[in-house]
This record gives sequence, structure tokens and C-alpha cells, in this order.
Amino acid sequence: MAEVLVVYHSRTGNTAKMAEAIGEGAKSSGVNVSVKKVGDVNLDNLLSASGIIIGSPTYYGQMASEIKQLFDSSSPVRGQLENKVGAAFTSSGSSEGGNQTTLLSIIQAMLIHAMIVVGDPMETGGHYGVVAVGMPDEKVLNACRLLGLRVGNLVRKLSA
Ligand SMILES: Cc1cc2nc3c(=O)[nH]c(=O)nc-3n(C[C@H](O)[C@H](O)[C@H](O)COP(=O)(O)O)c2cc1C
Repeated sequence: MAEVLVVYHSRTGNTAKMAEAIGEGAKSSGVNVSVKKVGDVNLDNLLSASGIIIGSPTYYGQMASEIKQLFDSSSPVRGQLENKVGAAFTSSGSSEGGNQTTLLSIIQAMLIHAMIVVGDPMETGGHYGVVAVGMPDEKVLNACRLLGLRVGNLVRKLSA
């Protein structure tokens, strides 16, 4: 069965809560799901997943170094993540604090891997992925579940 991997870094728990909700949503699409802290992810995990959803707190308007480290370590598998489905999420301290640029920094690395990136629709409002400002509320957690569901559905379609 196709697998969706949710990878995240979180110091104070906000991004972790989003990751769990995204995992729930992906599971409801019928795919296998694993939700992992970035430090527990290796290149084999990336290779075996058909969908990879990555979340980071916004640090200085960019992804955290722990997430960047995963991308930096992934150059040996350049070409092998092609056509995997990707999506991004972030938690920031303030609404104008660079959350969108953080999402774009993650998406940029996914595109360099030639992944297929899923955005966030109008009704949930994140544009480039799901954003929480501080602790995610129920509206954000719903947007997380929907993002997971949409990635899971696309993975299933592509692997049918
Ligand atoms: C090193 C560091 C840099 C940060 N930089 C930003 C920033 O540029 N913009 C912002 O809005 N919040 C910034 N924050 C706040 C975090 O993004 C915010 O607290 C987030 O919810 C933390 O997520 P977590 O609970 O998953 O660790 C920063 C926090 C830290 C520790």
C-alpha cells in the first residue's frame, strides 16, 4: 500500500500538533502513514514514501536548520524522489513573521527534487501550505487534516 511520510521539527510542540493532524487526515484517505521527527528520518524513509509532507517552525523566515539538514543530506538520492507528492506546513510566532517564506523554502527544495507539490486551497487559506500562528487552533488543525487527506488522495490516484 502507498505510504505518506509526515516529517517535522518542533521545539515547543506547535508544529508537532500540526504533524499529528496531517497524519490523521492522510490516514483517512486509506494510505499507510508514518509521522516522524526529522531526527528519526533517514534516506530510506524518503525513498519508500510516495508522499512526503514536511513541517518546520518558522525560524528567521525560513525552515529550521534541522529540516535543512535533511534536505542537505538528501543529495545522494537526487533523481529518486521525482514525482513523489510533497506538501509543507509551518508554525510561526507572528502572522507577518515569514511563515510564507518558510513554506516556500521547503517547497523550493521539493521542486529541486522534482517532486509534485500540493498547495492549500482558498477555503483553508494557507496558499503554499498550512500555517499556524502559535499553537494551532481547531480551524488550523482541520486545514492540516484536509492537507493530509488531499496528499493521501493524490498519492492513491498516482499509484493506482
Ligand atoms: C530560533 C527561532 C527563530 C524564530 N524566528 C521566527 C520568525 O522569523 N518569525 C516568526 O514569526 N516566529 C519565529 N519564531 C517563533 C516560532 O516560529 C514559533 O514559536 C513556533 O510556533 C514554534 O514552533 P514549535 O512549537 O513547533 O517549536 C522563532 C523561534 C525561534 C526559537
